Amino acid sequence: MILADGKRFLLSGKSYGYAMAVTETGFLQHLHYGGKITERDLDYLFAIGATVAPHKDDFNADMAFDSMLGEYGFYARGDYKEPTAIFERRDGASMTRLRYRAYRTQKGAPAVAGMPHARSGGETLIITLKDDFSEIEVDLYYTASDDSDVLVRNAVVRNTGREAVMLKKAFSFRAELPNGSYRMMRLAGTWAQERIPEIAPIAHGVTRLHTLRGASSHNTNPFMGILTEGCTEERGECYGVQLVYSGAFALTAEWCKNGPLTLQGGINDVGFGWQLNGGETFVTPQTLLTYSYEGLGGMSRSIHDFLREKMIDPAYVYRQRPIVVNNWEATYFGFDNEKLFPIIDEAAKLGIDTFVLDDGWFGARRNDRAGLGDWFVNEDVLKGGLKTVIDRCKKNGMKFGLWFEPEMVNEDSDLFRAHPDWAICKEGVEPCRCRNQLVLDFTRKEVVDYVFGTVGKVLKENDISYVKWDMNRNITECFTAALPAERQGEFMHRYILGVYDLAERLTGAFPNVIFEGCAGGGGRFDAGMLYYFPQIWTSDDTDGYERAKIQWGTSVCYPLSAMSCHVSVCPNHQTQRTTPFQTRGNIASLGAFGYELDLSKMTDEEKALAKLQVEAYRRTAELVLKGDLYRLKNPLEGDYFCMSVVSKDKSEAYVVGERTHGNPCDYNQYLYLRGLDADGLYEIEELKITASGKALMNAGLLLPRLPDFGSWAWHLKQVR
Ligand code: GLA
Repeated sequence: MILADGKRFLLSGKSYGYAMAVTETGFLQHLHYGGKITERDLDYLFAIGATVAPHKDDFNADMAFDSMLGEYGFYARGDYKEPTAIFERRDGASMTRLRYRAYRTQKGAPAVAGMPHARSGGETLIITLKDDFSEIEVDLYYTASDDSDVLVRNAVVRNTGREAVMLKKAFSFRAELPNGSYRMMRLAGTWAQERIPEIAPIAHGVTRLHTLRGASSHNTNPFMGILTEGCTEERGECYGVQLVYSGAFALTAEWCKNGPLTLQGGINDVGFGWQLNGGETFVTPQTLLTYSYEGLGGMSRSIHDFLREKMIDPAYVYRQRPIVVNNWEATYFGFDNEKLFPIIDEAAKLGIDTFVLDDGWFGARRNDRAGLGDWFVNEDVLKGGLKTVIDRCKKNGMKFGLWFEPEMVNEDSDLFRAHPDWAICKEGVEPCRCRNQLVLDFTRKEVVDYVFGTVGKVLKENDISYVKWDMNRNITECFTAALPAERQGEFMHRYILGVYDLAERLTGAFPNVIFEGCAGGGGRFDAGMLYYFPQIWTSDDTDGYERAKIQWGTSVCYPLSAMSCHVSVCPNHQTQRTTPFQTRGNIASLGAFGYELDLSKMTDEEKALAKLQVEAYRRTAELVLKGDLYRLKNPLEGDYFCMSVVSKDKSEAYVVGERTHGNPCDYNQYLYLRGLDADGLYEIEELKITASGKALMNAGLLLPRLPDFGSWAWHLKQVR
């Protein structure tokens, strides 16, 4: 709900309130972000705010901006926090002081052309600020819904003058949290160990999470959790700050002694520079601010609901995902029809519905040194072309999926030989190579058009129901011959706009194909990609223990439905660890499920188990897609992992756990379920137990005694 009268503004969601006011000198002041308040409280907050706001007869008024809380920072004009934006004019001056000009409201959420955005929302408040020293105006967007604790924000910068202005920084938002000492949760990691939550106290100064990789990255996900004192998984206040952006980003938290905590973020300003000509606007990526008084678990559930309801394509978000078998870890590049057919035949017997052909089917791609960019089937490898493999799938009643890496090129490829300048490069500078490949210059429309044409042709000419869109290296050189010297700072953002453009066009042209993103090699897993792709290959690490940690961390700000999870062979190719087949299946069942091994080489026992896993997954798939997630045992803090999903009506639940490390005498370990109907009676099929929601949540369940990496999967049904 939005209350606005041009002087005071109150935004309310399910359980938060967000208040602002215009000071007597015409500045937009932040008053409150936290638990709910009422309209009547605005006067009281306004009075407190007025004590720190600049007064009109104060000779030193501008210096008050150092302590006044603002909604979009100033630069070189008394606000000494990190600037939210820097607008450099032709004469080199860039001081800014933004003053309130007007507001308007509109129903629903604004569409952001060319970028991922919330597809719907309750109501949007747009506040226009005008710089006192230039012709720049900034529109601050706030979309709030009564049924959500996610507030969507971004800023639109407009040059209303005639002369070009250089945006040297243009963050999406500033948000202020009240005085206090906070801890920060970040999702950090590296390849095959992504999005591992790390919580640490926020020290004085600026804490910055960012990436220059050109992708959301393995190392730092575009998410920042802010925890108030005492906040835990289940209790206490916390905030989530999450960018709807897939490129080079930055998020900062700035704390000055005894002061509030200032949060800001958006497109990374390192190396950034955007020439904004007279009459042009620059739209910054959206940010999701989430408030929770039910700990990190409550925050995650609010984010999951928001992403599922308002960000991910409604045509796919709740649709049962295909259960796939992917040939990558089964064959790597060493496949031909004879190696693939037994996998397909076996998959059909197990009830798997889609076969996904991974890297190596095109051009001269027999290893990772050649062929990328040549999206033409290699008939020496696949005799009879893709059609023979597709026919084999069809004969077995299965569908077919295909791997692409649309943004990349090998130097040893026909594409590179024809268009060497289409790869990101700078004449006279030897390019950095990574996995022997270069990145295509997606800032150039002709490059994106070409890839759309070639990938689109394969999709048009073949019966393909699923695409895995890979991205295996990060950007270097950051230079394009297509832009003049003074515009090179636009490169990184224009690159990701090119990716969004291709994703929009391909998903639009092939609405019946489900597209899966891939965070394996390149680490791109974020809310922006989820706008186009309902699921993302979560990590190249499918080890039964490591994956539990990765999925735990990923679930902090992404729903289970977004995580593509496969059962792979043991010893695991990444960790060399052996875990039970059943455990790998149980962990993978907490996402979009599949297999990634040579099914034809499995033992009879494994085949029987896989068949049961596929059947069991079909029963829980809907719950996993739509339910409320409760994280119950943190594998990073103890010797168990456990998560549960509870249906919205609380009539069903699915609980998956793993004993990750055994200790002597660790019997009498209890698990307390969450989110059940306290007065309901539940049957746990596997344990042959019937107990009330109260008992299961308050008295708990005795954890099974299992060897290391042993696991369980329990189905709960409400019987009364
Ligand atoms: C990345 C992906 C893998 C596989 C390979 C193919 O590493 O994460 O799943 O597709 O690329 O080269």
